[in-house]
Parts: sequence; structure tokens; C-alpha cells
Amino acid sequence: MCGIVGYVGGKQARDVVIDGLRRLEYRGYDSAGVALVSDGEIAFDKRAGKLANLEKAMEGSPLPASTTGIGHTRWATHGAPNDLNAHPHLGAKGRVALVHNGIIENFATLRDELERAGHDLVSETDTEVAAHLVEAELDRGADLTAAMQAVCRRLEGAFTLVAVDGEDPARVVAARRNSPLVVGIGEGENFLGSDVAAFIEHTREALELGQDQVVTITRSDVSVTDFDGNPAEGRRYHVDWDLSAAEKDGFDWFMRKEIFEQPRAVADALLGRHDETGALQLDEVRISDEELRDIDKIVIVGCGTAHYAGLVAKYAVEHWTRIPCEVELAHEFRYRDPILTRNTLVVAISQSGETADTLMAIRHARAQRSKVLAICNTNGSTIPRESDAVIYTHAGPEIGVASTKGFLTQLVACYLLGLYLAQVRGTKFGDEIAAVVEELQRMPGHVQQMLDEAEKVYELARGYADTRSVLFLGRHAGYPVALEGALKLKELAYIHAEGFAAGELKHGPIALIEEGLPVFCVVPPRGRDQLHDKMASAIQEIRARGARTIVLAEEGDQEVAPYADDTIPLPVVPTLLQPLVAVVPLQLFACELATVLGHDVDQPRNLAKSVTVE
Ligand code: G6P
Repeated sequence: MCGIVGYVGGKQARDVVIDGLRRLEYRGYDSAGVALVSDGEIAFDKRAGKLANLEKAMEGSPLPASTTGIGHTRWATHGAPNDLNAHPHLGAKGRVALVHNGIIENFATLRDELERAGHDLVSETDTEVAAHLVEAELDRGADLTAAMQAVCRRLEGAFTLVAVDGEDPARVVAARRNSPLVVGIGEGENFLGSDVAAFIEHTREALELGQDQVVTITRSDVSVTDFDGNPAEGRRYHVDWDLSAAEKDGFDWFMRKEIFEQPRAVADALLGRHDETGALQLDEVRISDEELRDIDKIVIVGCGTAHYAGLVAKYAVEHWTRIPCEVELAHEFRYRDPILTRNTLVVAISQSGETADTLMAIRHARAQRSKVLAICNTNGSTIPRESDAVIYTHAGPEIGVASTKGFLTQLVACYLLGLYLAQVRGTKFGDEIAAVVEELQRMPGHVQQMLDEAEKVYELARGYADTRSVLFLGRHAGYPVALEGALKLKELAYIHAEGFAAGELKHGPIALIEEGLPVFCVVPPRGRDQLHDKMASAIQEIRARGARTIVLAEEGDQEVAPYADDTIPLPVVPTLLQPLVAVVPLQLFACELATVLGHDVDQPRNLAKSVTVE
């Protein structure tokens, strides 16, 4: 979810763009780059690593004076985070420079087409095809605006693109589909940014672009069209946030912002996972289909929230592939002499890709000649580098220490892995796989539905400020949700919280139930293997003993309603996918309760985002 800046005006574009990038660095810090229009051509510099690397390089060899420029700070999706893959990308003749946030789903087809036409593409990115295509349109006589419109009509996926033409210093052109873009309206100058933090030092007048729109900014003018060139309008507004709120998109915490980014994150995690034939594809697989067919056991390892994503994965992967699947905490796995063979697939789940416990686990697995597949959010981090295959989760940087969008996108990646294995091994028909993918495509909307009800969850949370202990119950795929709900509450609100499998209640935990004890109950969808009814009985049992029940159940579920002190309705979704929606209110609850208690939600005490020691 990279950061993007554009500027045209009377100031030094170099300075305005670098300042903007500094404000957007929280959106990505794998690499940074700037392109300026100067003396009829493009001047640019781009470097792997944080913005400071680029600034240092530019001190040694400064870019020329210019009043028109663009910049980018990257969160890598396609291609390693190195100098070559850093943005901006240039067209074949270096006339166009272009930066991009998002994922161009059909880039492989476009790249083939360009290469057949003699284009030499130098990076591994999906972005470079857009730069070449825009420049090809200019060669055919279009101006930059028309070129951008023409190219956008051909692109699929999610993208914000910002481009400059070396021969046209007067304008910067940008476009957006499913990725953010805001215009900053100044006096004798105009700005573009992924969000308002990019420019609020200069102006607080903003214009938010709509879906599938192209905007052209000059010093004195901002004009918006759709992808066909028809005039269009953005939404104008005044920004009254301070800089710190702007970085958080107006939210009080990065974590809350990240919870609300989940519909987008889930959609991005699903983007570009098909080829033209509809067959699923993974990001980087150095394991042959033959080897995948020989897999006779899967072991999923991870820590914390990532481990819980693995617990959900077990239900789906075993159901779809019929391969036995174990899930283990990475640190326990490493030191117990696990049985691993060449036919074991070890799946390492890690948001950061740097968790030492998980890294040691995969090193051990590879030493036993097992294949390792990483599910990771951080391109180029150690765990995917040391694995045989990777599925990136494409959630963008997660800044809140407690994982939220990281978790949801890990779930999506696990589902994709299960379906991919089912495809390769033929344990599901193509149409069955397509049906699940279709259900997955509906999930961003369902997650949004959960977020639309956030206020009710907040109100509930505010009522529990004096609570010392909370229990969470779930069954089947809802059991890891209960564990994750409890973890969030421990991490953020420092309240004692435990998650249990509801069936285990009668074997011990029911002794904990006392008058007024809050218990979250994640109810499976109706009509599956009596799971629902068994959960309903468990709720009755605890309520009869005085528990205060907060029931997460399908909307319209009348069977559990009589035993619920509070109800959080869930959309009707398949059992295996329910965790994607059920966990959202639990995240919101923990975030709000921690806020009410005055805790630092983004940096809870004693915790680190990435634990790089064993
Ligand atoms: C730390 C974080 C957790 C995270 C866990 C695993 O404990 O505080 O939020 O779930 O590490 O991190 P990873 O980056 O490997 O997913």
C-alpha cells in the first residue's frame, strides 16, 4: 500500500516531494524514489530502503531544479525491495516516469504483449508495464491525460498511478481504481497524495477522487474525468486534522485504522490470484506440482496471531485437500524433534517475516529436507527468502503492534493455499474451487458490514471498563476466533481473557463461570453437522450459571437469541470463512476497551511488533 506524491507549482518540487514522502513513509518503507521534469526530460533517483537512503544519495548527487515532480515510497508486492524495482518506473525511451500503488492483475499478459512488441522491461514489477504503455500512447500523439485514460481502460486490479511527461513540465496526471488518491488544492500550486498527510503542510483544501477517475493538475487548474475522458467530479472538503491524525486517516490509533482497512486488505490479498484460465496461482513457488502431489503431511507453524490463523487453516486445508495438517507454535515445533520428511510441507505464517521462533522452525524443517512455504506480509524479509515458496498477504504495513489486517489477510492466504493444493492434487473440481473463490470475493463486503456496526460494539466495550476477566468460546473454525479474541483483549486491555473450545467447557472451564462473567460466544452458521445446536446448548449452560453472554451469531438466528444478553449479528457465510467476519467485532471490542482504559493501543506494554530473538 505504497505512498504517492505529486506536485506542480512554484516551489522546488524536489523538496515538496521529499517532505510529502516523509509524511507517507508509514505506508511503506522498502524503497523510495523521486522523478522531476527538467529541461525537457525526466531526472530521477530511487533507492532501496528507507527514504533516508534516497536523501543521502541525493545529497551526493542532487537532482536538478524543477517545479514539477512525483515521488513514491514502496511496500513491495511484485518483485523484491531493491533499487531496480523501486519506483518511479520509466517508459522505453525514458520520456515518462510513473509511480504506482496497488496491484495490476493483468500485468503478465500486458508484459508479454510489450515484450513481443520489442519493449525491454528491466524490473520485476507490475508497474513498469503501465509506464511503457503510457509512453507508447504519447508516441502515438496523445497528451499525458489522454494516454493515462487509454491505459487505465486496459488495466485490471487496484491501482493509483501518477505520471509525468518529460516533454510537458506543466502537468502531472494521476488515476485511481480501488486505491486511494487525494488532490491538494493550493494557490498557484497543486498536489497529489495517497492521503492528505502528503500535503497538509501546504494546503488543507482537498479533493477526493472517485472510483475510475483520472485527474490532471497544473499550477492553476485541477480537472477530473472518467477513464473514457468524460468530465467527472471529485468530492471537495476541508481538512481539519493535525498531521498525526492525518497519518492515521483521522483515527486515534493506527490499529483502529488498520481494522477499518480490512475490507481493502482482504480484497488486495485476493487480487491477481488467477491466471486467464481461472486457475489459482501463488506468488513465488519453487515447488513443482509433482512435489506438491507427493506431500503427505502439512505442518503449519507461527506465533501469536499468526498461529491462530494456522489453526483456522487446518479446518479448511484438511477439508479441501484431505492432507493431514498439524498446527504448532513455532518455538515448540523447533525443539521437539518433529517427524519431518521430504514429503512434509511446512507452512510458516508470519506478518513480519522476521520472527526468530518461526525462522528457526523453518531452518530446522529445511535441514530435514522438507519443503517450506511462507505466508508473509513483508516482501524480501528473511522467512520468505529462506522458503521454497511464498504467498504474500498484501496487507500493507501494519503499524499497530497487535495484528489485525495481518490476521485477516493470513486467513485469505491460507484459504488460497488450501484451494491451490486442492487444484494441483485434484481433490476438488474446478467449479467447486471457483465457488469458494466467489464466496471469498464477497468477503470484503461482509467485513465492511461488520465495521458499519462498530459503534454498537464500542458501546458494549465501554460497559466493561471494570471487568477483570472475559471468556471466549467457539467451535470448529470459531475456536481459533475465540483464541484470537482473547489474545487481543490481553494484549491491548491487559484484562485476563481465555479462549476455549466450547465442547471443552464441561471438562473444566465451566467451573470458572460465575455471576456476571462476560463470555463471548462465536456461534457456527446454522445447519452444519449439529455444530450450531451444540453451541446453542453450551450458551444455555453458561447462562444458567450466571454468565453474561455476548453472542456472535448469524443474523436472524432465533435459536440462540433467547440466551444472549447482547447479540452481534454476523452475515451468512460458509462455516470455514466465518472467522473473517467473526473476529472483526472482537478486534473492535479490544481496541475500544483499551482506549477507554487509557492504554497505548498501538504500542501495548511489554510487547514488540516483531520479535527477532528466540
Ligand atoms: C509478536 C506480535 C504479535 C504477532 C506475533 C507473530 O508477538 O506482538 O502481534 O502475532 O509476534 O508475528 P509475525 O510477524 O511472525 O506474524
